[in-house]
Amino acid sequence: MTKMSARNMFIVATLVVTVLFGYLTYLSYDAFSANAHPENITSQVAHGKEVWEKHSCINCHTLLGEGAYYAPELGNVIERRGEPFVRSVLETTAVQGWGTTRKMPQFDLSAADIDGLVEFFKWMNGIDTNNWPPNKEG
Ligand code: HEC
Repeated sequence: MTKMSARNMFIVATLVVTVLFGYLTYLSYDAFSANAHPENITSQVAHGKEVWEKHSCINCHTLLGEGAYYAPELGNVIERRGEPFVRSVLETTAVQGWGTTRKMPQFDLSAADIDGLVEFFKWMNGIDTNNWPPNKEG
């Protein structure tokens, strides 16, 4: 192989990979609006996300498979457990363990915080994840 053909291979391969990367990025953005329904992100959903971040729920839980594996997946918790159960978990005043030895702290959430989290979980539940994560409890 000459120096010239090595250089040409480098240039062509770089161009092909760059175009491919751009196309795949475009597909991801395109799928987001179809799968995640950003039009359903109300101010309550946004507030729920802020509460979620403020208390670092992700340090124990996963959302759509991403996060820590100490506590159950919550992207589908509304469907898996039902809204009344989720509310009772968030309203409970004592440190709780629901059937396991692992405990969840009490966060003293206000009614608005709990409403926001429930709306946030409902929006998460509506995302088409192509059946991810495969284990429903995370
Ligand atoms: C220190 C770890 C920890 C943090 C932080 C945490 N949780 Fe939990 N959470 C748990 C554990 C452990 C369970 C499961 C307890 C059991 O099943 O016995 C749980 C259960 C839940 C459940 C019920 C899930 C189910 O499938 O039964 C919900 C809803 C929930 N947590 C919401 C939250 C929210 C919202 C936050 C943030 C405000 C949060 N958690 C922060 C540990 C945590």
